[in-house]
Amino acid sequence: MCGIVGYVGGQSALDVVVAGLKRLEYRGYDSAGVAVLADGGLATAKKAGKLVNLEKELKDRPLPSGSTALGHTRWATHGGPTDANAHPHLDNAGRVAVVHNGIIENFALLRAELITRGHDVVSETDSEVVGHLLAESFSSCGDLAEAMRQVCRRLEGAFTLVAVHADEPGVVVGARRNSPLVVGVGDGEYFLASDVTAFIDHTRAAIELGQDQVVELRRDGVTITDFAGDTADVRSYHVDWDASAAEKGGYDYFMLKEIAEQPKAVADTLLGRIDVAGSLTLDEIRIPAEVLREATKVVIVACGTAFHAGLIAKYAIEHWTRIPCEVELASEFRYRDPILDERTLVIAISQSGETMDTLMAVRHAREQGARVLAICNTNGSTIPRESDAVLYTHAGPEVAVASTKAFLTQLVACYLVALYLGQVRGTQAGDEIRAVIRDLAEISTAVERVLETMEPVRELARSLAAKNTVLFLGRHVGYPVALEGALKLKELAYMHAEGFAAGELKHGPIALIDEDLPVVVVVPSPRGHSVLHDKIVSNIQEIRARGARTIVIAEEGDETVSPYADHLIRIPVTPALLQPLVATVPLQVFACELATARGNEVDQPRNLAKSVTVE
Ligand code: G6P
Repeated sequence: MCGIVGYVGGQSALDVVVAGLKRLEYRGYDSAGVAVLADGGLATAKKAGKLVNLEKELKDRPLPSGSTALGHTRWATHGGPTDANAHPHLDNAGRVAVVHNGIIENFALLRAELITRGHDVVSETDSEVVGHLLAESFSSCGDLAEAMRQVCRRLEGAFTLVAVHADEPGVVVGARRNSPLVVGVGDGEYFLASDVTAFIDHTRAAIELGQDQVVELRRDGVTITDFAGDTADVRSYHVDWDASAAEKGGYDYFMLKEIAEQPKAVADTLLGRIDVAGSLTLDEIRIPAEVLREATKVVIVACGTAFHAGLIAKYAIEHWTRIPCEVELASEFRYRDPILDERTLVIAISQSGETMDTLMAVRHAREQGARVLAICNTNGSTIPRESDAVLYTHAGPEVAVASTKAFLTQLVACYLVALYLGQVRGTQAGDEIRAVIRDLAEISTAVERVLETMEPVRELARSLAAKNTVLFLGRHVGYPVALEGALKLKELAYMHAEGFAAGELKHGPIALIDEDLPVVVVVPSPRGHSVLHDKIVSNIQEIRARGARTIVIAEEGDETVSPYADHLIRIPVTPALLQPLVATVPLQVFACELATARGNEVDQPRNLAKSVTVE
C-alpha cells in the first residue's frame, strides 16, 4: 500500500506534490520520491526512509520548478526499502517517470521480455517494468494516455499508476485497477491521488475513477477512458470533510478506518500468491521444501492479538498437515527452555516486526537450530530480517494501537502457510488446496457484508456502556475469537472482559454469571461441526438459565440458536476453519463503539503502545 500524488496547474507542482505526500504518509513510509517536468526534460529525486529524507534531499539539491509533477511514498512489497527501489521509476532514456501502488503479478515475465529487448532493469521492484513498457509504447504512438492504455492491457494484478513523459509537458496520466485513485478538480489545476486527503487543502471537488480506467490531466481539463480507449462514465462528488479529519479518510478514528479497510487488506494478502490455475505460489518462503517436509513440529510464537492469530493457526496447521503445533506467548517461550532442534519450524507472528518479546523468541529459536518463518506486516523490520524467511501480510500501515486489519491478514497468512505445508508434505491434495483457496478468495466479500450490517452491534455496544464486565465464550476456532473479543474490550473500553473455552464454563467461570451479565457467544457452524454446535447451544442455555444476557454470533440460516439469543449477530456462512475471519469483525466494532461511548481514546488507549520494544 503506497501513496501517490500527481499535479498539473499554476502552482509549484513540486510543493503541491510533497505536501500531498505528507498527507499520504500513513500509507507507507519506506521511501519517497518525486519527478517534475521542467526545461524540456524530467528531473527526479528519491530517498529511502521517511519523507523527511526526501525533503532534506530537495533542500540540499533543489530540482528545477515546473507545473507538472508526480510523487510517491512507498510501503515496500517487491524489493527492500532502498533508494534504487524507491519510485518514480524511469525508462532507460530518462524521459518517462512512473509511480505505482499495488502488485503487478506478471512482472517477472514482462521483465524477462524487456531484458531480451535490451532494456536495462535497475531495481528489484515489480513497478519498474511499467516505465520501460510506457516508453516503448510512447515511441510508437506518441501519446502518453494511449501508451498507458496499451500497457495496462498487458498488466495483471492490482495497480494504480501515474506517469509523466518529458515529450508531453503539461500532461499527467493515471490508471487504476483494484487500487484507489481519485481526481481533484481545481480552477485551472488538477490533482491525482490515492485519496482526497492529498489535495483537500486545494479543492473539495473530486472525480472517482472507476475500475480499469485511464485519466489524462491537462491544465484545461481531464479525459477519462476505459483501457480500450472508449469514453468512460465518471462520478463527480464533493468531499465534505475538513482537513483535520482528512488523514483518517473521513473517519473519526484510525481504528474505524482500519476496520473498514479489512476487505481490501484480506484480498491484498492473497494477491500474487495464487496462480491462474488457482494453486498456491509461495515462492517467497525460501525455506527449502525438504526442510518443511522433514519438520517434526511447528511452534508459533507471538504476543497480544498476533498470539490469538497463532492459536487459530494451530487448528488449521494440525488439521491440514497433521504436524503437531504448539502456540506459545513469545514472552514465556525462551524462559521455559523449550525443546527445539533443526527439525522444528518456528512461526513468529508480528504486525510491527519489532516486538521485543517475539524478537527474543526468534533469536532463541535460531540459536537452537530451528528454522524461523516470520509472518509480518512491516517490510524490512527486525523480526523478518532476523528470520530465515518471511511471509508479509499486506494490510498496509496500521496506526490504531488495537490491531484489526493486521489480525485478519495474519489469519490469511497463517492459512496460506498451513496449506503450503500441506502441499509440500503431500497431506493435502491439489484439489483440496484449491477448494480452500477459493473459499479464502470469497472472504473479502463476506467481511464486507459483515461491515454493512454493524449498526445493531453499535447500538448494543452503546446500551452496555455502563456495564463493568463482559464475558466471551467460544469453542474450537471460536475460542481464540472469544479471547480476541475480550482483549479488544480490555484494550479499548477498559472493562473487565474475559474469554473462555465454552466447555470450561462448568469448571469455574459459570460462577461469574449473574443477572443481566452480557455474555458473547461465538457459535460454530452447524455444518461440519454439528457436535460442537449442539454443545455450544447447550452452553448458551446454561448461562441463560442463570440470567445472563446472551449476545450470540451465529452464521446466517442457523435458526437453532434464535430462541436463546437476546441479541443475535449474523455472520456469513464460511467453512468452519475460516469462520474467525468473519466472526472477529463484529467484536472489533463492538469494542470500538463501547470505548467511544465511554469517552475513551480509541486510537491510543491508555498505557498501551503499538510497537512494544521492551521485554
Ligand atoms: C502490542 C499491541 C497489540 C499487538 C501486540 C503485538 O501489545 O498493543 O495490539 O497485538 O503488541 O504486536 P506485534 O506488532 O508483534 O503484532
